[in-house]
Formats: sequence, C-alpha cells, structure tokens
Amino acid sequence: MSLQKIHLPDNFLWGGATAANQAEGGMRSGGRGLNNIDLLPLGEDRMAIAKGKLSNLERRQTYFYPSEEGIDMYTHYLDDIDLLAEIGLKVYRMSISWTRIFPNGDDDVPNEEGLAFYETIFKKLKACGIEPLVTLAHFDVPLALIQKYGAWRDRRMVDAYVNYAKTVFERYQGLVKYWLTINEINILLHQPFVGGGLVFSEGDNTAEITYQAAHYQLVASALATKAAHLIDPENKVGCMLAGGSHYPYTCRPEDYLEAIHRDNGEYFFIDVQARGYYPRYALKKIEREGLRIQMTEQDLVDLRENPVDFVSFSYYSSRTVSAFEDDYATTTGNLFKSIKNPHLNSTEWGWQIDPIGLRSSLNMLYNRYQKPLFIVENGLGAKDEPDENGYVVDDYRIDYTRQHIKAFKDAVEIDGVELMGYTTWGILDITAASTGQMSKRYGFIYVDRDDEGRGSLKRTPKKSFYWYQKVIKSNGEDLD
Ligand code: BG6
Repeated sequence: MSLQKIHLPDNFLWGGATAANQAEGGMRSGGRGLNNIDLLPLGEDRMAIAKGKLSNLERRQTYFYPSEEGIDMYTHYLDDIDLLAEIGLKVYRMSISWTRIFPNGDDDVPNEEGLAFYETIFKKLKACGIEPLVTLAHFDVPLALIQKYGAWRDRRMVDAYVNYAKTVFERYQGLVKYWLTINEINILLHQPFVGGGLVFSEGDNTAEITYQAAHYQLVASALATKAAHLIDPENKVGCMLAGGSHYPYTCRPEDYLEAIHRDNGEYFFIDVQARGYYPRYALKKIEREGLRIQMTEQDLVDLRENPVDFVSFSYYSSRTVSAFEDDYATTTGNLFKSIKNPHLNSTEWGWQIDPIGLRSSLNMLYNRYQKPLFIVENGLGAKDEPDENGYVVDDYRIDYTRQHIKAFKDAVEIDGVELMGYTTWGILDITAASTGQMSKRYGFIYVDRDDEGRGSLKRTPKKSFYWYQKVIKSNGEDLD
C-alpha cells in the first residue's frame, strides 16, 4: 500500500442542508397533511411539547407556529436552487415531508401533487448538476398517526414508514441515490415528540415507551434500507446521528467511565444501524431496567441483514460530562446539556465551539464502524445584522466554518478517515429546530424574516456565500 498523502477526493460532496419542517412551509398547500412539528409553537411551551410532557395535538390561535410558513421554500424552491447552484454545491441535503406524500401517513394511495412537487425539485437539481441527499423523516411524524397509533410506540408505524419509503424510492429512481432514513435518530431520547411523535400520559413508563419506539424506528430504517437496495442497487442509504463525543471533565476514572457510558447511550442507535445488531450494553440496560420491549426474531434478522451503507452525523459541539455533574455549571447544546468546558468559547446560544472535537468524532466514528462517514450538518447559529440591502458581513460564520473544514481535512489527510462529504446546516437561513427562532441564523444566504414571521422573505447572499463558493471551487484548498 502506498503511503502517499491522502487528499480530499475530487468527487468530495460539498454541500448545504435544510429540512422541510424548518424551511418548506406550505403547510396547507398541495394536499399536505399536518405533522408533529406543525404543532410546535414558538415560546415557552415549546420544549415541554418537544419532550412529550405537554400534549398539544390541536392547533391553537394563541400560538405562533414557525414551521407553518418556514421560509416558504414551497414557493421559492426553484429560485433557491439557482442560488445553491451559484455557490457551486455538489450536493444539497433536504427532506421530503411525509405528509405531502401521504397526508395521513398511511393513506391507500399517495398524493400525486406531493410526489410531483418533489419530482420537479429533483429534476431541477439534476439540471443544475447538484446531487440530492434526501432525508425521509427529518423531525416528521404524521399527526394522523400520532392520533391513531400514538406514533412510534406502535408497530404499525413500521409498515406506514416503509410504505412511504418504497413509494418515494420507486418514484424518484434515477433522480435520487443518497438517502438518510431518520434524522438525528438519537433525538428520540431527548425530545420524544420531535423525534417520534410521542406524547406521555401520567403513569406512563416513559423509558419503556421510548426504547420500544426506538426499536420500531430501527426496524423501519433497516426495512427501508432493504427496499432502497432492492428497488435500485445504486441507492446508498445512511443513518444519521446527532453527533459530538463526550469528554470527561477530569481524568478521574469515574469521569472517563461516565463519558464512555454517555457515548454509548447516543451511539446505541448507530451501533444497531451500522453493525446490524443490538450491542450488549444496550441489551444489559434493557434487562437491568426491566424494560419490556416487543422484539421478534424476524426483527433481529431484518436488522442484521440490512445495515446502512454509510454513517452520517450532525456536529455542532462536543459535550463534557462528569460522574459528579452536580458540582459543575452547565450550558446548552444541540439537544442536550453539557458541563461548561473551560477550554472552549460558546455561541450566542451557549453551544460550545470545538473544531478539534469534529476531528475526534470523525476518528471515533470511523474506528467504531469502518464505514464511510458524511458530515451532514455543521454551522454557526448567530444573529446577523444586514445592511440596508440585506447584505451581511458574517466573518464570524466564515471563521467557524473554516476551522471546522480544516478539522475534517486533517481527519481525512492525516488520520485517514473516509469522508464522503460535508453539508453546512441551514445554507439558507431557516427557523431553528430547538427554539423556533428565525434570528438564530446559520445561512450563507440571508432570508428577510423575523421570529414572529414578518418580513419579505427576500434572499440575499452573505459574505460567506462568496467565501464558500471559493472553497468549493478549490476543493477545500483555498480557505482564506
Ligand atoms: C439539528 C437538527 O439538531 O440541529 C436541525 O437536525 C437543527 O434540524 C440543527 O436545525 C440546529 O439546531 P437549531 O436548534 O439551532 O436549529
């Protein structure tokens, strides 16, 4: 084997990402049905609803729902793709809204208007030379299935999801080849309503329900992977983790062990999806906690026979933990809290900035799975100050992205990690998943809209737009 320097491959997939639930809008257009995120309001009740602790299964006049309009990609999609092409994207990560295809989640026939809508988008992407990377469920559970089955706590969700997956695999054959089954599948543990449409009642065994839902999602993901491969052997299917490793706060052995346990807690899902079986630590947890999980022999066969082709993940931050957590101050982060790491700076929202943590995560995931990796979300959520023309000089975002690109290049070029691509999160400003705010902006394209939904929705490239253009053109060599 030659020991020459490994560079980013010429076909490295540089890209950007959005998701239907935060960008598309058009909630009542084109025959679309309602989903879980349509019921997630801006404001103080948002987190309790996201966690399944507060039931909100009916739309209320008193709430503002950011996803209802998103940034109205529903009507702007084709023009937006022109902008993405101007940046030079090789790949665009987006999600299909399940209820645009099956308004009730499990209708007998799909909604042709919804199918045609995405077909137009995929054809436009093809015409622009942009490869789509499509998430089947990005925080997306049909409301009708939440009401009918209690969402992913029920096995019937598996059939509904797989039928939806097969429908889109068949329809978009030849247009889409990269698929992700379920976005940030480990979010189910932290925000069960967002990740799985779960709403808990008094007296529920929440752990049992959550791990049962996890099992059904894992089986559904495996069966969708199987269908994708059968329908078109060219299809490549990935799982998707909310990434970021846990650091022990000190070198106390207890802290290190805690970090391992916390990593396992999150990687459990990916362990199953990438390796095809439940890790022993997860079986032990189920046994220890007396969780009664319905799991058939056929489920285990389906998991084993259908691992994913690649492992994708989002990365915003590392996390710091201790066996003695109460002794330390914590801060927020993507999905869950972390002890404040004194060696890191934070964003305006308290998420700690750690590019080296991205390199470590890549190493760790590659060692663990030996499958190609794909960074499908990364970026800086920050407030922007546009000038009178809507132009934003976002050097802070360029700096953040530059540092993270350097880190993943090191992982590839020095550590030898196999990396397929990198899609920055919210390439256009979209509503934030955690807070619902529009003011938490990630984009290289400014979108004129505020937290309460006011604004012209006009799109204006930021300074980062032109910087990223250069980065892509030079295949990551020119980062200045
Ligand atoms: C991930 C999600 O959790 O992080 C995205 O997959 C989300 O949907 C992103 O938008 C950033 O989080 P936030 O809350 O800042 O939008």
